Order: sequence, then structure tokens, then C-alpha cells
Amino acid sequence: MLIGVGLGPGDPELLTLKSVEILKNSDKVYVPGRMAADLVAPYADAEVLDFPMLRDYDVLNAVWKKNAEIVAQHARNGTVAFGLIGDPNFFSTFSHLAKIMNKHYPDVETSTIPGISSITSFASRADAAVETSFEVSDGSEKRSKIILKAKQPRKIINSLREEGFTEFIFAERLFSDKEVIIKNVDDIPEQGNYFSIVYARRPSLGTE
Ligand SMILES: C[S@@+](CC[C@H](N)C(=O)[O-])C[C@H]1O[C@@H](n2cnc3c(N)ncnc32)[C@H](O)[C@@H]1O
Repeated sequence: MLIGVGLGPGDPELLTLKSVEILKNSDKVYVPGRMAADLVAPYADAEVLDFPMLRDYDVLNAVWKKNAEIVAQHARNGTVAFGLIGDPNFFSTFSHLAKIMNKHYPDVETSTIPGISSITSFASRADAAVETSFEVSDGSEKRSKIILKAKQPRKIINSLREEGFTEFIFAERLFSDKEVIIKNVDDIPEQGNYFSIVYARRPSLGTE
């Protein structure tokens, strides 16, 4: 089992209780750099795995594959935590590592524990509350959209289809005992509520 653990923006007091628990109870903990290693240090002895920023894709792929192999050795027989700055599903090294693991080591289950991301950290520190729709970009193509307050999910999905979106996930009351996550679009209900989210994704247009 491999768990991507969000370590928050860098303040040791901004790790979640769940992240700390996972770090303490894992058989092995990896991190991609010094900053993450320092955040993990009070709870576990982390090993730094190097993920260099290279332009040579052949070399880069070889490094990623090697790292996946190292992680898989432990994750096959125990619990491995991979600690990252911010959130593990948000522009994160972990997403790519999980993809490689799922492809080459499908027997290793992967999951994530959310962390406080740079977006909400920024809003807090810069006193810049986000109160209307907004865009986050790292310069890559825009392929996904998240709709909050999705009280009429099917109506939302129909309108997103017209914008070229093809994949949809409906989520409600996440991390509560009433949590709902529906990935099959045909099963998404007409009616949501205030704590409903629609996530939409479209294929790459290869234009950006
Ligand atoms: C590869 S992304 C990682 C994002 C991270 N997974 C998250 O959830 O915030 C790296 C970018 O996130 C932003 N970032 C991450 N931590 C930050 C922090 N503590 N302060 C400011 N920006 C941060 C920077 O723009 C940086 O280039």
C-alpha cells in the first residue's frame, strides 16, 4: 500500500492529525526533498528520493521508473507513506508516481491523504479571499473544472458537455459518514445539495 501524504505549505503546525498518524504508523516513509524531510522528521525517519527536473524524457522516465521500483519493494509488503509539500493531488510529484506505480506495479494499492495546498495557504497569508470562480494555472492546458454548490448536478453536467467535457465525478459530504462519490455518470442524481461537487475533465486538445 502506497499513501501520498499532504504535508501542508511548510509550517510544521499545518500538518493534519491524519497525516501525522499515517507518518508515524508507516513501515517506510519517502519524501522528494529536504523541506518535506524536515516536516516529516518529528514523526518518521524519511528517505529522500531524487526527482530531478530534466528535459531529457528518456532519462527522466528511467529515473521515475527506478524510484517506482524502490517504492514498490516496500509497498508490496507493508505501508509506505510518500510525504509531499501541499496536497498530493494538486500539481504534485505523487500523481505521476502513482500513475507509474499503477502501470508497472498494479498489485500495489495507492491512496492519498489531503494536505493544505499552496492555494488556500496563499489566500490565508496574503489576505486574499477567493469568493468567486477563479483559475489556477501552471501554464499547461486547462482540462478540468470543479463546480461547487452543485445542487443540480445533471443540469450542470449537460451544460459542461457542451463545453467539451466528457468525464464527470459527483462527490458529496466528503470525509463524513454520509460521503458519496459517483464516477459512473449515468448514476449521478438530478439532485445534489450545498455540500455537493461536480468534477469534470475533457480530453487533451493538444493546443497549449
Ligand atoms: C509542483 S507545485 C506543488 C503544489 C503543491 N502540491 C500544493 O498542493 O500546493 C509547486 C508550486 O506550488 C507553489 N507553492 C507550493 N508551496 C508553496 C508555499 N509554501 N508558498 C508559496 N508557493 C508554494 C509554488 O508556486 C510552486 O512553484
